[in-house]
Order: sequence, then structure tokens, then C-alpha cells
Amino acid sequence: MKRSIKKILAAMLCAGMTAVASAQEGLEAHSQRVRGLVSQMTLEEKLGQLTQAAGGRSMSLNSRLTPDELDRVRRGEVGSYLHVAGAEPLEELQRVAVEESRLGIPLLFAMDVVHGYRTLFPVPIGMAASWDPNDWTVAARISAEEATASGLHWTFAPMIDIARDPRWGRIVEGAGADPYLGARMAEAQVRGYQGENLAARNTLLATAKHFGAYGVPLGGRDYGTADISERSLHEIYLPPFHAATRAGAGSMMTAFNDIAGVPSTANEHLIDGVLRGVWEFDGLMLSDWNAIAELINHGIASTRAEAGALALRAGVDMDMTSGVFGRELAEAIASDPSLLADLDLAVARILTAKERLGLFDAPYAYHDAGREASALLTPDSRAEARRIAARSMVLLRNENEALPLNEGAGRIAVIGALAEDAMTQLGSWRARGQAEDVVTILDGLRENAPAGVQVEYSAGAAPGNEDRSGIADAVELAARSDHVLLVIGEPYSLSGEARSRSDLRLPQSQRALARAVLETGTPVTVLLVTGRPLAIPDLADRADAILNTWMLGVEAGNAVADVVFGAVSPAGRLPVSFPRTTGAVPFTYSENPAGRPAHPDLDRDTNRYIDQPITPLYAFGHGLSYARFEYGELSVSAASAGPDETVILSVPVTNTSGRAADEVVQLYMRDPVASIARPRLELRGFERITLEPGETRTVRFEFRPAQAAIFRAPGIWDVEAGRLDFHAGAASDDLRASASLEIGGTAQTSVPAAAIATPGSSE
Ligand code: BGC
Repeated sequence: MKRSIKKILAAMLCAGMTAVASAQEGLEAHSQRVRGLVSQMTLEEKLGQLTQAAGGRSMSLNSRLTPDELDRVRRGEVGSYLHVAGAEPLEELQRVAVEESRLGIPLLFAMDVVHGYRTLFPVPIGMAASWDPNDWTVAARISAEEATASGLHWTFAPMIDIARDPRWGRIVEGAGADPYLGARMAEAQVRGYQGENLAARNTLLATAKHFGAYGVPLGGRDYGTADISERSLHEIYLPPFHAATRAGAGSMMTAFNDIAGVPSTANEHLIDGVLRGVWEFDGLMLSDWNAIAELINHGIASTRAEAGALALRAGVDMDMTSGVFGRELAEAIASDPSLLADLDLAVARILTAKERLGLFDAPYAYHDAGREASALLTPDSRAEARRIAARSMVLLRNENEALPLNEGAGRIAVIGALAEDAMTQLGSWRARGQAEDVVTILDGLRENAPAGVQVEYSAGAAPGNEDRSGIADAVELAARSDHVLLVIGEPYSLSGEARSRSDLRLPQSQRALARAVLETGTPVTVLLVTGRPLAIPDLADRADAILNTWMLGVEAGNAVADVVFGAVSPAGRLPVSFPRTTGAVPFTYSENPAGRPAHPDLDRDTNRYIDQPITPLYAFGHGLSYARFEYGELSVSAASAGPDETVILSVPVTNTSGRAADEVVQLYMRDPVASIARPRLELRGFERITLEPGETRTVRFEFRPAQAAIFRAPGIWDVEAGRLDFHAGAASDDLRASASLEIGGTAQTSVPAAAIATPGSSE
């Protein structure tokens, strides 16, 4: 196929040559209406379109703007507002833009609707733990229904940064450690937010963020440099972004940090070269909050005008709040008129986003106050929030079948202040979530306890509060109870943006509480509340059971009760491993094997720490069930295949227990001999299936050799000839069946291997 001019230019950029995309060619991709508007706009109006202003931070939404701000809208000095909401106030604002500005260009209204708008779902790392992309699509669809009813057009989600270092506080916002899992969760969210038709009044423009390697800051400290290889960038961190473009994501946001010295907000190679050129992304690129001005702090610009020129030239279209595009970019353009071509393209992309949302034809479609009054937190949405929350919990440990608790459970002591902490269940991006909407863990357990079971409560000690005086009371309650549900972990304020921690143990008060309660000898089930993997080796040794509940949203308590009392068998799986100690991170099941692979025998010199086992505390993919499953043989439809052929891998799985339950069947791959060292294991497929007692289902995965391709250069991936090994199992450390396939030739593909989905089914 003939390569487009855009692709050739991109390849030149990728090869380190400077090339300026022809403005003419770029503009031609836009509609006549958009081109017409661009040709009529003054320089000031163009810079205005590029400007996104803040109504308020999420805690102080401010949608009724001052007279001065409304005058800015009349003059066309603002293209978009973020952190605003409300069908009616936003309609008034839109009316000023559409009816009182010279060209009548509508505004874009945006917010971080990340895991729910009013109906809050589990935090994203919990959503990923369901290992069911459909759950994400459902949650994103409900979020879009609600947010658009409140006048919003645009969400800054999905957050799809791969993160392998739980010290980084924002690991809570993404899908965890794995590019294949992350890519599936990315596309599922884009589909949910954007639906079939962006112009419909109940669909939201999605933003894949933060492009391109925000999840790997040095030391796990937020905003820090990503000093990574070109290979890990393309094989690990970028595949979810590629998957998001293929799902049609209409916008992206640049990351705050730099990759090997190039801040993403000024990375022309990555934005105009790889993303737009090679991947042919045609959406809108937004900077993160104040990130354009912060290019000065990075040390690649000495003035705001220079910073603006760098961002615009790199391909950033809209400036979130720094004001550089609105104020100082004119100065940069005056000294370098070649920037005018980039400016026109940026304006056109913003106008096209507005056009795709239908805003030119129906600017008030999102402002139906009646819909807003009836669409939020409906009983159906709550029911989905409960169902999905129950599916996202991960049973880490369950000695002697401590869970579920049944009618005979007797006296249950619920201990720990997090049990009644509603705000924590709302997570770190709560949009319009209200604490009073939350069913707390305590309320849910009380409400749903089987008849005859008594539930008593003691707060013990709260995280972040060094007052331990309540511990004695908790110990007294534990001692006279038959079972303790110990609700401990991190409150919401310890994870999220700028919430990196150097210590992955529980907060001190929580450790003291746990120690004291475990001393009583009463059986203890830990209900862990957290936004990140924690180092909890003592709990793993001493508690009977550990159920990782993350932060579950408005239906937290009901969902926890569903699992604790056995209405639902847990089937969530870890999307990132739990370390034994902080010093063991970052760690992934998917590392390269090394010349001296880690070995349990300490007398050998191998790739390990001498002061702890070679395994993580809980591995990627780990999660227990109340049922038991047996795996049969893994079979491949052909012993060998050409590099372009599809093969079917199938494995029968049987529920050998007496209760219905879900199992997440995972498919891993290893390329044992290649021209470049390959990871020990790579996830390449998964299916969450429901099995009745005694039922067998055969899970089928359709695999293509392109999914094993090795990165050479942007858009160039090599399929090598030779053997591939496959393993099916219940976790990355619980592989039950293996098979091999011989690839009988070489081929070149253009797509990041982990971005390609493995269609799965079961019968
Ligand atoms: C975050 C983004 C977010 C933006 C707007 C920034 O601080 O990094 O993820 O979308 O704020 O709230």
C-alpha cells in the first residue's frame, strides 16, 4: 500500500530529521465548516480557542463565572472550561459563547470523570482487577449518561498509564502493571464514554492520558523523569495508547514528566511523529494542568513564549490553564511566523472535536435540566455499581476457608475506622460523588448480615491519626467475638496525584491496631482498603483471610457484604503484584530473565535480593475463589503456523466445587529464543467465565504471531521465526497447562504487539 505523505513525514521525524507537516495537507482533513471558521478567525480568536480555563478545582466547582470572565467568552478568548458542571449554569455560559461572541463558536465543558460522575464505581485499579473489560464499558457508559446530563462534553479519562512501582500514588488511577491488560481496559473505557456516536447528547469525548510514560517516574515520585529505553516505551508504556486510538479516542493529554530529557508536552517526535504520523491519530491533544508553563522548570525554555512555541510545534493543541497559548504565544509567532501553520492546525483540531460532539448543530443538547434531575444515581446505576464492585475485589488469602461467613458465624466484630469512612470509598477522583450516597463497609455488613449473626463495631485507630486510645476497646471486642473483620489500609488521601509514598507498609496506627487484634487469637479476616499494592507480609502470615477491597465507590458496603457472606464468590485478580517489602519495588512478573535468573538457592549468585524470597507476596494475576477449578490440557490448533496465520489455543476448565463461581482464565506467552531478550512471561489473553458446580467450559483464544512481534522502530515490528511457548492458568505464578507453536517464517507489522487483542470465547 502506498504510504501517505503524513506517514512519510512522520517517519522522517522519527528518524530525527526535522520536518514541518504541510499545514495545507493537515487542514484539508477537516470539514468545510471548520476550514471556513479558521479562515475567518483573528489571531486573538485562534489563541482563544486554544485556551482552556478553570472554573474551579473539583472540590469547588464554579460554573457561574464573573462578569469579567463572561466578557472573555464574548471576545472569544476561551475555547473550553474545566472543573465546571450543571446543566443550567453551563447553558447560560454556552449561550454567551454561541450568541454573543463574534463567530458563535461553542465552548467545550470538561471534567475528570474518572471512575464515575455521581454513581461512583471502584477506583480504576479496582476496575481493572475485575479482569472484565465489559465492566469498564458499562461503568463508563453510566458515567457518560450522568456527566452529559450535567452539561459536560468531555472527560479526562481513561487514565491508561502502565505503572509497576506502587510507591507512585497515581497507580490507583490506572489499570496496573501490564500493557496487554492495560490496552484492553483502555479500549473498553473509550467505547463506554464515546458510545457509537459522539454527537449523541449522552456520549462524552474521552481523553487517553497521560501520553506517553507518566507511570514510570524515577523512584515512584510523581512528576519525575521517565528514564526508560525506546524499547520499553514502545513495548510497555505506549500499547494502551495505541489501543485507545484504535477504539476511536477523540483526545489525549500529555504527561507532566519527561522521557529521557524530553518533556512529553514538548515531544514533537512522540506527538506529531509517532502518534499523529505513524498511528494516524486525528484527535485533539491537550496539555496537562499548567504543563506548558512548567517547560521552563524542566529547563528546556527560558521564557513562557519559548515554552508555548515548543508545545505548539510538538503538536499540543489546547493549553490547560497555564495561559501561555492565550497570552505569550502571540509573541513567539511574531518572531517565528512559521508557527502560524501549527496554530491553524491546532485550532482546526479543536473545532473538529466540537463538531464531532455535535455542538455546532445543537449547542444546547447537553443542557436539559429535567434529564439532569432524573439521570443521576438511578437505582439501575447503583445496582451496576454494586455488581461491578463485588467483581473487582481480590481474595488474597483464605486459610481454612475462613470466608465466606455464614449463618453460623455468631458474633462478628467489625474493627477499624475505615469501615465507616465514606469519603475513602469515593476514591481520588470523585467528580460529583457525595459521601452521603455511600453505603459504608460497616453499613453494608450490618444491613446484609445473615439472620442470627450479630455485628458489633469498634473504630480502634484511624489511619493518619496517632491517637491509639481506641485500640483497647477494639481488643476487648475482638476477644469476645467469634470472628473479626479488620478493616485497615490507606485512606483516599494517601493515594492519587502527588501522593507518592516511600514506605509501602500500612500507616503506623493501622499496624498497631492489626498487631493488637491478631494477638487476641480470634480468627481475623482483613478487609484491605487501598489504592495501591501494600507490603503486608505480617498480615499474610497471621490473618486467616485477606480480601483486598480497593476503594469501591457508592455501593462499597453492599458489595463487601456480598462477598463476605458468600452471595458472590470473589474472582478479581491482581493487575499488579504485591511486594513483600518496599525495597522490592519496582517488580514485575514480566521482566527479562537475566543471564543468572533468580533462584531460590542462596548459595547461587542470581538475580535476586538475599534478604527475601524471589517471589512477590502476591503475584500478578493472583486471586482466590470460594470454588475450585481444574485445568485440562492446553491445545493449539496447529503445531506450526505462518507469520500471518491465526491459531486457536484452547483449554478446558472444570469447576470441581459445589458452588457456582467465576474463574479468570489467563494465557501467557514466552518467546524462548529471539534476537532480543524477551520477558519471562507476557500476558496475551484472558477470559472471565462463570461455571456452575461440576461444569466444564473450553476457553478458546485466537492468537496471531503479530502479538509476539518485537519493536524495531515506530511502526516497524518484527515477527521472528521460531518457537513460542504458551501457558494457561489462574495467575502468573499458577500456570496449569502448556503448549508450543512454531512460527514458520518472518514478517513485519506496524502495530505494538501488546495493543492487539486476543479474541476469547468459551463453550
Ligand atoms: C492531572 C490530570 C487532570 C488535570 C485536570 C492534573 O493535575 O494530572 O490527570 O486531568 O489535573 O484536573
